[in-house]
Amino acid sequence: MAIIDTQGWTRLIRNATVATCTDGRPYGLIPKGAIALAGKRIAWVGARKELPAELPKNVAHTDARGALVTPGLIDCHTHLVWAGSRYREFEQRLQGASYEDIARAGGGIASTVTATRDASENDLLTLAMGRAAKLVAEGVTALEIKSGYGLDRDNELKILRVARTLGKRLSLTVRTTLLAAHAVPPEFKDRSDDYIKCVCEDILPAAAAEGLADAVDAYCDNIGFTPAQVERVFARAQELGLAVKLHAEQFSNQQGAALAAKFKALSADHLEHLDKEGVHAMAAARTVAVLLPGAYTYLRETKLPPIELLRVHRVPIAIASDLNPGSAPLASLMLNMHLACTQFGLTTEEALLGVTRHAARALGLRKERGTIEAGKVADLVIWNAEHPAELAAQFGLVRPAAVLREGAT
Ligand code: NIG
Ligand code: FE
Repeated sequence: MAIIDTQGWTRLIRNATVATCTDGRPYGLIPKGAIALAGKRIAWVGARKELPAELPKNVAHTDARGALVTPGLIDCHTHLVWAGSRYREFEQRLQGASYEDIARAGGGIASTVTATRDASENDLLTLAMGRAAKLVAEGVTALEIKSGYGLDRDNELKILRVARTLGKRLSLTVRTTLLAAHAVPPEFKDRSDDYIKCVCEDILPAAAAEGLADAVDAYCDNIGFTPAQVERVFARAQELGLAVKLHAEQFSNQQGAALAAKFKALSADHLEHLDKEGVHAMAAARTVAVLLPGAYTYLRETKLPPIELLRVHRVPIAIASDLNPGSAPLASLMLNMHLACTQFGLTTEEALLGVTRHAARALGLRKERGTIEAGKVADLVIWNAEHPAELAAQFGLVRPAAVLREGAT
């Protein structure tokens, strides 16, 4: 048996059912496991019986009493900084209007832009913290936050600053994404190319200069931007050294996923209308497919993403909440795990990997987070559950008993 170096260990979690989310066996499960931490990082993980009899005296002990331990959950697609409410659109859709109809009539994203522009940074922070707190209560330790409801330089930067502050206040890992190419703002009505020019020449460089954006996203669809326009945004992002991702193939097939893959995008998201060519391109680029079953359900869509093709071509599948005021005002990543299984037919294991390992990859965090492995950051959740299938199989019943963020409770 290999000799385990216990030097530097600060905490030992024993008696745990550890879902490491690594390869090799379902969930990377270690039924009678233990995890050793050295400060902020995981120092060792393995079977209880492999632990040495003698441990350094100052190691703190946590008895998990058989409970499930997973990596901290990661919500890799949210738009949670906004003001106003779009509940009336929900009612309109129940009367037969479509998401596209409402957007074309001046509602939709545009109405949230008006409310968000009018809101102060402080008010937005309060609203966003309340929403993020719902995710944190479910064991989310890292999340992505997009802009996209400002649509001019000052308001886009305002949203990104709120996202950064939120991360500090809630001790969360926040990855920010500039989504200035979300919709055409009113001052550029019928001049979408001019707006894209403004995104490339003004908003994007300003966000990069202030270090406010970790990535750049765009909305490629009939009611969004064309692939040619997205390509201009991506080219500019690439020049500035920023990663890209794309809202692609949500309501129609624009070959957006293939375009994203061409730019080695971290992820392409939504993907209900993704075709075989798009899947091949994503597989070759190792671009993550981020599925958003909450938005699919909320909009009562019926076309399923091509799950089996994604599996066959080994495209990593992540699941996210898409938390936003229009297509997914649903502040729960665990609900999305559940819906990924019931609506999209994912397995409970795919649902868990989708909010851990593959979600970390979708945010460019795969070397640091997303699995329980020696060397990674100790973002961990101890659950009131015994088996990882419980997380997706039930909703509202499974809760974190304790959350460790970078090794601390
Ligand atoms: O991810 N479809 C584009 N963007 C968002 C929705 C934004 C909104 O309706 O406010 C989405 O679904
Ligand atoms: Fe989205």
